[in-house]
Amino acid sequence: MISSAVRLACAPGRVNIIGEHTDYNDLPVLPMAIDRQITFAFRPTGTATVALTNADPAFFSRTFDLAERIPPFVPGDWGNYAKAAAQALWTWTAEHCPARLPLQGMVGEVRGDIPSGAGLSSSSAMVVAISVALVDTNALPISPEELATLLADGEQYVGTRGGGMDQAASLLARAGCALHIDFHPLRPRLVPIAGDAVFIIADSLVKAEKAGAARLAYNTRVAECRLGLALLRHLAGPENQAAAPSLGAFMRAVPDWPAVLVALPAAEVTVAEVARLIGMPEDVLIAEYLLGRDGRPLVPTDGRFAAMRRCRHVLTEAQRVAQAEAALLAGDLVALGRLMDASHASCAEDYAISCPELNHLVTTLRRHGALGARLTGAGFGGCTIALVARDAVDDVLDGVWRDYYQPLDLPQHIRRDSVLFPCVPSAGAHVRHPE
Ligand code: GLA
Repeated sequence: MISSAVRLACAPGRVNIIGEHTDYNDLPVLPMAIDRQITFAFRPTGTATVALTNADPAFFSRTFDLAERIPPFVPGDWGNYAKAAAQALWTWTAEHCPARLPLQGMVGEVRGDIPSGAGLSSSSAMVVAISVALVDTNALPISPEELATLLADGEQYVGTRGGGMDQAASLLARAGCALHIDFHPLRPRLVPIAGDAVFIIADSLVKAEKAGAARLAYNTRVAECRLGLALLRHLAGPENQAAAPSLGAFMRAVPDWPAVLVALPAAEVTVAEVARLIGMPEDVLIAEYLLGRDGRPLVPTDGRFAAMRRCRHVLTEAQRVAQAEAALLAGDLVALGRLMDASHASCAEDYAISCPELNHLVTTLRRHGALGARLTGAGFGGCTIALVARDAVDDVLDGVWRDYYQPLDLPQHIRRDSVLFPCVPSAGAHVRHPE
């Protein structure tokens, strides 16, 4: 039970309207915070100890000490998300205000209603909730933008090479708005959502846990983009080599990028073939493009991949983000719906991050009246997001429940509104103190 003397940190999950797998390529995204969140009811301990219980009995209590180096729990342990926040904030404090060290810990209970492994950023919301509680406990002078940037890197503690969308959306969102986010440096821009636009979230029920198998698949896409960039830079000529450290930078530096894109090999290539094509020794290519911060390659480097398709998804998705922001601002829901459909097709065909269940769900949503529908988040399972006109919401919900969920014969305890629900664009993370 939470006593009244306890502070409450709240961090929402997020859903991405459009702009998938663009953030780690230094290209924008268009997410919003949802009305499902992680809450952390806590008290400062006055010592280095962080002691966490979880209202969900599936997750055991976790205790650790704040320190300069915080060793992780075993991979996949939920406590690592709290440690990721703590490690990042310790390192930040040592650099910016060392007089505030050692950091003080907290004792408290975590609870949440964001479905996990569903692409709604339950894990980033957990990192954000713990971090705003630590910032509050230690009165750290860090802005929400700086915290979002810090945590985007900090979450790599759990091994995923994510971009910065999830943490930024959870921290910086505002009620009633989507958030257009540019990266490096982080630049959020609020985009009001017109009153008759409703976004419906539907969970495919295929799990894609960030700390599990989806991590390798995700990191593989990060590596493929880096190799695609190596090829593009080579094809674009020497004057563009230094100027383009990411696909985003390349797109901005080379206005004629569509012509370079179509020159990429259409067939799948290996790392060895990329090295040969650009005339670089393979070990130099790996060192320049594929190493993580720990000095090891992001993924095994013996696979084949479709460089042209991967790059085509990322670069055209960035164009769709700009068009979608304009459509949202103009209240043009038909145009926005078409862009979401095009995004799903690109995610499925070029980026290969969909699955039969997600494709079926998207088709079912459209058949029942959605103006557009797509997978959202990292993919490989998880949720879809659909755009629906307000007066069509009930028809879509009823039809999709009947055609997608009822044939699955779900266990009794799974309620309709835990897997299929309209979402309210919500406010970002905050800490409430007792009255
Ligand atoms: C995950 C990552 C994000 C982003 C999305 C895909 O949610 O954490 O940074 O890359 O996948 O758009």
